[in-house]
Amino acid sequence: MGSTERELDHPLGVKHLAGCLELSRAANWNQNEADWRIMLEIGHGWGITLADGTLAASTLVIPYGSRFAWISMVLVSPAHRRKGYASRLLRTAIADLKTRGLTPILDATPAGREVYVQEGFRDTWGFKRYALGSDDARVLRDPAWPSVRTIRDSDWPQILALDEPAFGASRDALLRALASRLPGSALVAEVRGRIVGFLLGREGREASQIGPLVATEPLAAPALLAAALEHIAPPIYTDIVDREPQLRGWLEARGFAFQRPYTRMVHGADRAPGDERKIMLVAGPELG
Ligand SMILES: CC(C)(COP(=O)(O)OP(=O)(O)OC[C@H]1O[C@@H](n2cnc3c(N)ncnc32)[C@H](O)[C@@H]1OP(=O)(O)O)[C@@H](O)C(=O)NCCC(=O)NCCS
Repeated sequence: MGSTERELDHPLGVKHLAGCLELSRAANWNQNEADWRIMLEIGHGWGITLADGTLAASTLVIPYGSRFAWISMVLVSPAHRRKGYASRLLRTAIADLKTRGLTPILDATPAGREVYVQEGFRDTWGFKRYALGSDDARVLRDPAWPSVRTIRDSDWPQILALDEPAFGASRDALLRALASRLPGSALVAEVRGRIVGFLLGREGREASQIGPLVATEPLAAPALLAAALEHIAPPIYTDIVDREPQLRGWLEARGFAFQRPYTRMVHGADRAPGDERKIMLVAGPELG
């Protein structure tokens, strides 16, 4: 990896966890140590460390199957922005993925998008972060159909069969890891014994994050969310696809408010993998 007298580019590992957490804290992002650990476990990354030992920038890649990988956690500490660090680590990540035959995909903040378009990424679809504050929750009555229950071990084949065509690749390890992070959100919706939707979530540094939510039956999404909201205390974040204005209205009626937009971008192509009609909530911009 390249280096200068002032800084060193290097692979990221668990020994850099404290620096990684400080980068996400400085950007007011929600990831906690468990998030960084799982991303470093199922993926790998690079950092730039300054002469004084401070981690000034990070970028991770998370391969999903044999066709594509997520680029994640593109963070530069506020004092060291606009020095080319993000572009440099991004080029390292893109080159790494290209040699493995994987298409780079990511979910961009508006600031990140300015960097990514210059490195060959194109916009596909968008989603928005909605947040429910501790004093903002409003409880409304919801229809009790389809029925919703906690995920059981025997549900995984059906959950994965629902998720893979929607997301575009298997994310078995990630979904199973999420199921134990926030049990109140690990739910399935059923119609006549068949799973028609699932929800997972995780605790975070600032808030619990609920998502992904994948469903083939439109009414499964509000049913899953209503059940999760009975068990999970705010603050809560959730990332809802722009294509679902009705579900957005459902969230707004319960006190959720818009926080920030994201754009799903693909390197060198204009179509994201999977079937976005089945994705209601993404897992989060760092996970896809
Ligand atoms: C977005 C971010 C990663 C950019 O890091 P960076 O190291 O400052 O980016 P670079 O120096 O490589 O920028 C390369 C070019 O991208 C563009 N760019 C970068 N940040 C920009 C911004 N905030 N607004 C507009 N253009 C920007 C500029 O054209 C820049 O070139 P220039 O400085 O010569 O004008 C950094 O601002 C950050 O950590 N932000 C908070 C977290 C975040 O949003 N990350 C992106 C997640 S998708």
